[in-house]
Amino acid sequence: MPEYTNPPRLKLLCIAGSPRRGGNTDRLLNEAVAGAAGKGVQVKQVVLSDLEIAPCQHCDGCIQMQGRCVIEDDMQDLHQELREFDRFILASPIFFMGITAQSKTMIDRCQALWVMKYLMKLPIGLNKDIPRKGAFISVGATSYGNLFDGSKATVNSWYKTLDVEYTANLLIPGIDDYNAVSKHPTAMKDAFALGQQMAV
Ligand SMILES: Cc1cc2nc3c(=O)[nH]c(=O)nc-3n(C[C@H](O)[C@H](O)[C@H](O)COP(=O)(O)O)c2cc1C
Repeated sequence: MPEYTNPPRLKLLCIAGSPRRGGNTDRLLNEAVAGAAGKGVQVKQVVLSDLEIAPCQHCDGCIQMQGRCVIEDDMQDLHQELREFDRFILASPIFFMGITAQSKTMIDRCQALWVMKYLMKLPIGLNKDIPRKGAFISVGATSYGNLFDGSKATVNSWYKTLDVEYTANLLIPGIDDYNAVSKHPTAMKDAFALGQQMAV
């Protein structure tokens, strides 16, 4: 008798980077989760403002520890999840033309994974057979032409370090009030579709 095994379920890690709970990027992320979950993906959501994540001190402890950060806080578990999961969505509003402090602090702590990748020459993704993909959701109050440029550059650099292909953006200008995004003509539908897109 041949043995039949189900293909492994994709694992999607959704990272909420806004300190305003239930606000615009949270709503968009929840829609994306609904879209992905409907396609059978295993989803975990983390809320950065609920976690204890200290800023990187550039102590180079991660070089001495061969890619392990010496700061013992919630980033240790997140490092592991950033290696174990296959799909990623970071949702952060624009604060002063960049991502939020919560998001940037988390990304800076990925310097330990930078060491693992570039100095130790070790793989970051633990599921070798599954291509890793990531997306970025953001909103800002204004409509400046360069509103998302700085954040996209940061996210691009982060995903590159994580060996994640940066495949999708949902970037919506002109969104400020607490539930403004719910009144936007296409935003919620687009977020749902982005979640579906991350499920394949
Ligand atoms: C500290 C701070 C800085 C902000 N900086 C900008 C900015 O540079 N450009 C902009 O368009 N909106 C800026 N905003 C507005 C937020 O991006 C906007 O309110 C957004 O909808 C918040 O998303 P959230 O509900 O997911 O937290 C800023 C808001 C705060 C609190």
